[in-house]
Amino acid sequence: MKIGNTEIQKPLFLGPMAGITDATYRGICSEMGCDVTVTEMVSAKGLHYKDPKTKKLIAINGSEKVSGIQIFGSDPDIMAEAAEKLEKEKNLFLDINMGCPVPKVVKNKEGSALMKNPVLASRIVEKIVGKTTKAVSVKMRTGWDEDSVNVIDFALRMEASGVDFITVHGRTRNQYYFGQADWDIIAKVKKAVSIPVVLSGDVVDGPSAVSAFEITGCDGLMIARAAKGNPWIFKQIRHFIEKGCPLEEPGRVEKIVMAKTHLARLVENKDDYTACREFRKHSAWYLKGVYNSASVKNKINQAEKSGDILALLDTLLPV
Ligand SMILES: Cc1cc2nc3c(=O)[nH]c(=O)nc-3n(C[C@H](O)[C@H](O)[C@H](O)COP(=O)(O)O)c2cc1C
Repeated sequence: MKIGNTEIQKPLFLGPMAGITDATYRGICSEMGCDVTVTEMVSAKGLHYKDPKTKKLIAINGSEKVSGIQIFGSDPDIMAEAAEKLEKEKNLFLDINMGCPVPKVVKNKEGSALMKNPVLASRIVEKIVGKTTKAVSVKMRTGWDEDSVNVIDFALRMEASGVDFITVHGRTRNQYYFGQADWDIIAKVKKAVSIPVVLSGDVVDGPSAVSAFEITGCDGLMIARAAKGNPWIFKQIRHFIEKGCPLEEPGRVEKIVMAKTHLARLVENKDDYTACREFRKHSAWYLKGVYNSASVKNKINQAEKSGDILALLDTLLPV
């Protein structure tokens, strides 16, 4: 598929995850074989009011290859203004969030609530497309709930409004992240539209990636939760697609070295205090399955300085 002027065969996307896939982690995943990255969701209103936290979210890491900034909002003018403001940023595409299920977002008619309001969703897309020179995509779900699954009509509407590609998370808003993602409906979306379709939901390894491509005929895959503490997943999936057999799993040393690199880069990109706090969840994911790491994990959760955390991680390395 093509994003802007860049052609990528069967691209693997890192799924945006608020609070997890910051520029540091997107950089790591990109170095580990991820083709396309998308920022955490960025509030168009936050950009309008020049909120400093919002500004930080749009920073792109130098290692990101094809990168998108994801914006959310429901006011077409504010969304278009955000698109205009983001023209000067390094991202190659703009992604519009129409999938977020969180109550404080949907109560403002934003995120997945836009699937209940296709007319407004189209207006937002048309205004954004009119203001940006970058490629535009929409990330959507299958519908609001099981009684209102409208993703096929919605996808066609987004195509008609001018988006370059779509990402479909195969769950309704009411499912949040529970239950199995519905790949059959993504296959129907793919048949219905002429623009590229990226599948999101339950791609967790090489075999599931191959099945997702086969079942749906989709153009790209997005991997979110399975990439937590697991930047190796992109190379593993690519290897499985190309060679039909799995790559070796990362060993204890590789995991600890990666965790240390991640923390060191967080410290470079943020202050030591913030880096230590944000690293806690990542360390738990990296150390999952690392033999005898429980007490180190607990100590990392209490550590206040990155030097202490690095020393704790060193104790897990063989002498
Ligand atoms: C903690 C968390 C945060 C997320 N944040 C976002 C977000 O900011 N924007 C978005 O479009 N999707 C977000 N998602 C959805 C994922 O990108 C993805 O579509 C979903 O998790 C299904 O894919 P998976 O089965 O590979 O996890 C989030 C998911 C999780 C679990």
